[in-house]
Amino acid sequence: METGTVMQYHHSWGAASGAARMEAPVNRRKITRRDALALGIVGAAGLFVPVRHVLGIDGNTTAPFQIPLRIPPVLQPTRVDATTDYYEVDIKPARVEILPGKQTTIWGYNGLFPGPTLKTRSGRNVVVRQVNNLAVEINVHLHGGFVAPEHDGGPNEVIAPGSYRDYVYPNRQIASTLWYHDHAMHQTARNVYMGLGGFYIIEDDVEKQLNLPRGEYDVPLMIQDRIFNADGSFSFPAHNHDGVNGDTILVNGTPQPVFKVARRKYRFRILNASNSRHYELALNIGSDWRRRRLPFLSARPPLIQIGSDGGLLQVPVARSTIPIGVAERVEIIVDFAQFPFGSQIILENKLGRGKTAEIMRFDVAQAVSEDSSLPSTLRTVPALSGASITRDIELSMNLERGEWVINGKSFDPQRVDAQPKLGSTEVWRIINRSNVAHPFHMHLVMFQILDRNGVRPSAGETGWKDTVTVGPSETVRIIAKFDGYTGKYMFHCHNLQHEDHMMMAQFEVVP
Ligand code: C2O
Ligand code: CU
Ligand code: CU
Repeated sequence: METGTVMQYHHSWGAASGAARMEAPVNRRKITRRDALALGIVGAAGLFVPVRHVLGIDGNTTAPFQIPLRIPPVLQPTRVDATTDYYEVDIKPARVEILPGKQTTIWGYNGLFPGPTLKTRSGRNVVVRQVNNLAVEINVHLHGGFVAPEHDGGPNEVIAPGSYRDYVYPNRQIASTLWYHDHAMHQTARNVYMGLGGFYIIEDDVEKQLNLPRGEYDVPLMIQDRIFNADGSFSFPAHNHDGVNGDTILVNGTPQPVFKVARRKYRFRILNASNSRHYELALNIGSDWRRRRLPFLSARPPLIQIGSDGGLLQVPVARSTIPIGVAERVEIIVDFAQFPFGSQIILENKLGRGKTAEIMRFDVAQAVSEDSSLPSTLRTVPALSGASITRDIELSMNLERGEWVINGKSFDPQRVDAQPKLGSTEVWRIINRSNVAHPFHMHLVMFQILDRNGVRPSAGETGWKDTVTVGPSETVRIIAKFDGYTGKYMFHCHNLQHEDHMMMAQFEVVP
């Protein structure tokens, strides 16, 4: 009899007061196929939701915290004029060393995994020529980008092999950590799994004035999970429409890396770029070491969250753990000056088990003078209000078709599911009628979370968002203003397998 592991997220997506809350441990148990049927979580394809691991070999035998963290290079423009930076990216297959001594074929922006980081400033135009040198159709979406519909990377606007497309990004939005990734119809899960994702960072003057850590102390961390075959190749469970949860955690393409840090503040821009896996981040100072030298120090220093998907929070928020669903971003400040030399601090995943419970390690290595600060006020986040309409968005599984659906319907590019008026504000009630969490994402807008099951969100969730995790049987109300462009945009579940099959829909902003 087949078995799988069902993860239940009933603990952490609910509301709680923002700072330093402790959350119940995640509940996991082995289930059998019969259990799954009884629970109604087996799709027509006979797959568990989510299947944690595909039976087979774990090709990653690397011990944790051996490989130094890699940081994606910042892409240089090919041309710059008064208003615009022009970039060119060559999307191609490459053989890279992810596991020591083994080669992995990836599909990468410029052959890199993850892709290079694009850095720009608010108000500056960016044009990216994306050249498809893969054998398959792909496209590029700027996740969190405020862009015209024709540059948004809709699932059917693909780039054929051997051709290119120029994407125009006006960056008329505040400083924030966005990311770009593939969005091709039915193939997004595979394409992103193969490597098609990268950071896109917007900076602005408001943020610059805060004197947060910058330069080498401002570090993007892209967290992903993968399954490796014995020969080092990626194993992608192509027929699983429910999701993939890999057994190897990668940060910036490095398996459970170690990062040597100085005794000072760092800013980490954390992105969950996994296909399906949710994480709950926590810091843990290595227990052996702590027992020896620091019996007085908290084993679990809080995480200081400063940002979410769409930029800085109003104020820093201390949290004991931070849940991060697929495609969400959280930004944190860690002041390593609070730890003595030689400290080893592990970034944990409280939802993981075994290898997936530890993401990476920070080793406090050298002294350096502090030149950054963490102000008590970050930036104004004006509360949206005055919604003219409330829409219900139901997330569920259609058991007959074995498809994930929105309001009972599979994605149909010919159908428009909502027509917000240009300039109007709407409340969307996202109702999860299934027993797995869905990371709900909207293109074009940054929204705010009003409540979860009627309770105000935690302080870390009060900033700008483009993706919100809606837990099993949970209802989350969000508010968004539809402004700037008319036209069609996607909204969907960002579990990429759900998105591909067919938990996606579109709204059209109308005049
Ligand atoms: Cu991150 Cu529609 O995507
Ligand atoms: Cu998006
Ligand atoms: Cu989903």
